[in-house]
Amino acid sequence: MPRQNDRYIPNLYSRDISVYEPEYQQFIRQTLMDLRRCKIPGHTLLWEASQLDGDGLVLDLGVWIGWSTRLLAEKSGFRVYGFDTFEGLVEDWQVDDEKLVKAGALSITEPFAKRLIEDTGVKVDNGIPGALGRDVEFIKGSTYDTLAPFLDTHPGPIRLFHMDLDTYESCLHALETCKERFTVGSILVFDEYLVTNGEMRAFYEFQQKYGFAFRYRAWGLEIMEMNTAMVTNRVKRFIHRLEWFQAQRLLGEGSYVWKLWDSRFWRFWLGAPWGDIRFMLGATGQRKSVSLQITDLGRLGV
Ligand SMILES: C[S@@+](CC[C@H](N)C(=O)[O-])C[C@H]1O[C@@H](n2cnc3c(N)ncnc32)[C@H](O)[C@@H]1O
Repeated sequence: MPRQNDRYIPNLYSRDISVYEPEYQQFIRQTLMDLRRCKIPGHTLLWEASQLDGDGLVLDLGVWIGWSTRLLAEKSGFRVYGFDTFEGLVEDWQVDDEKLVKAGALSITEPFAKRLIEDTGVKVDNGIPGALGRDVEFIKGSTYDTLAPFLDTHPGPIRLFHMDLDTYESCLHALETCKERFTVGSILVFDEYLVTNGEMRAFYEFQQKYGFAFRYRAWGLEIMEMNTAMVTNRVKRFIHRLEWFQAQRLLGEGSYVWKLWDSRFWRFWLGAPWGDIRFMLGATGQRKSVSLQITDLGRLGV
């Protein structure tokens, strides 16, 4: 198999991008070239939060047990509004050709979430996790029902939009709902941007429709793994990290490295650039999170 470095997404060797139409393939290729230039070592959301200035709304879409929202508020000094059903995904999430996450998954009542809730000291009241002293407000319900009414009562531009709803449909809906609130300088962070039939696809279609200009700022780790860092007891934190690492190696992208009967093994070893291979061999984290900034409104402004 010849080395075709741009046919697969770094860390995601389960989908050959040549299944897409040529324009979208070109968008993905250009994106990867741009992203390799703005790779950061840490978590994209925290990197953006720590340098956030000015004013405007800060939205966290998809909060699970609430740590992305609390950490975003803590690091940015802004009030952060967090949106979630707290009852899981509202639609099935087709991650790639092989992996499907069913609607209802990622509810805060699942055993895995319950353990992290307990070990990170989160209190849940009426199905909503507590703020734990941070300047956050959680809005419970599907974003299909909650986002537009929220914007009606909260004027002003969006300063930072963090997308972690996972599915293509919810992501596109949120982008469309917020479109009049984006402005030049708005920062959009996508937690799973490199899932090419999910958030990246939604952003691509949104951008094509409104023709606005943007530039990529950072490509780093997903925020979800910060949940383990918030475990207060040192021994428990170590166990959580070990479990996370194992899950990544056995079930997640880390399995591409050793499952030699799997086509993704060969794609990875024969198709990946050395940078991706080095990263995967040493990785405990998942590098799919990307931030970008709007630089010209195009048709978003009309
Ligand atoms: C990956 S988790 C978020 C993780 C969180 N940002 C963190 O870092 O810990 C995705 C969350 O999105 C929520 N979700 C997905 N689609 C939604 C929708 N349309 N409306 C509200 N919540 C949604 C799920 O309930 C789930 O908690």
